[in-house]
Amino acid sequence: MADAKPRILIQLDTSPHASVFDAVTAIDAGLDHLLQYREVQPDQVRDLIHGAMFTRGPGDLKSTAVFIGGASVDAGEALLEAVKKVFFGPFRVSVLFDSSGANTTAAAAVLAATREFEGALAGVPAAVLGATGPVGRRVARLLCRQGAVTRIGSRELERASQVADSIQAQTGVRPASFASTTTTLAAALDGVQIVISAGAACARTLPDEVWTKLPALKVLIDLNAVPPLGIEGVEVADRSTPRGHVRAWGAIGVGGLKMKIHKQAVRTLFASNDAILDAEEILAIGQAIDAPAPP
Ligand SMILES: NC(=O)c1ccc[n+]([C@@H]2O[C@H](COP(=O)([O-])OP(=O)(O)OC[C@H]3O[C@@H](n4cnc5c(N)ncnc54)[C@H](OP(=O)(O)O)[C@@H]3O)[C@@H](O)[C@H]2O)c1
Repeated sequence: MADAKPRILIQLDTSPHASVFDAVTAIDAGLDHLLQYREVQPDQVRDLIHGAMFTRGPGDLKSTAVFIGGASVDAGEALLEAVKKVFFGPFRVSVLFDSSGANTTAAAAVLAATREFEGALAGVPAAVLGATGPVGRRVARLLCRQGAVTRIGSRELERASQVADSIQAQTGVRPASFASTTTTLAAALDGVQIVISAGAACARTLPDEVWTKLPALKVLIDLNAVPPLGIEGVEVADRSTPRGHVRAWGAIGVGGLKMKIHKQAVRTLFASNDAILDAEEILAIGQAIDAPAPP
């Protein structure tokens, strides 16, 4: 049998510089060559992907893969759609989509929550703060897919409602939406067992005087690593750490899981030539990492 071809990852990035973070993570995941393209536009994708599809025989195409990244999730989604349209028959390569780290971060946050509920979130009341950003939108979508009874918050109710519309279009499930203002937050979070805060860096989303008075609350997850942190009283390195009556995860605690998921997702690309790894598939990769080893 011929030797396997070198593993090549083609990094298509929509930003002015291809992400160093994504490049280092990919190399640490064990690929042989990284080819980087920046400021990629959807109308440029066809020729780039033809270069990936037509250079190796069908049996070797699993050694070529594509990573889509960049600061804008919307721009990345447009590239992903353009890439998928180029493939036909056996002429395809696997693709990992993680613009802004949104998918791997959201998967890690939902996996952390799942660990606190013995592996299943179905029926669990959960809220997402900062749900209108790239990470929050993915967290909310994954929670809905897992069957959590999800509420999503924004400082503007209308923005939360628009995100609820798009999640309903994607999943068939409509999360409830709420305004996360100082005066409305306590009532909006009444009864939730999980709060995941995906607010912007340096933005405080949840004061301790609110969450300490939520008796149903069991888990707090804060994705903001830059002080002031999102949830008052949660520390950045918390990893299922008891805080008051709840278990807490901070951004670094979740970040460890994110890195494991991100690297495993890159390795998964080279197992076949037809994987498309978006939020749901990336969460499944995280769940497989967590699964007990067979006896
Ligand atoms: N731990 C990790 O591995 C990791 C990886 C990637 C990202 N992150 C972190 O994850 C969080 C979410 O990332 P992102 O890119 O989705 O964030 P983002 O787009 O910058 O912000 C998310 C949302 O936060 C809300 N927000 C903005 N300023 C605010 C303020 N002053 N007070 C309260 N809310 C405010 C906005 O929602 P509304 O205007 O609708 O209220 C915004 O849509 C960030 O803190 C980021 O640093 C962590």
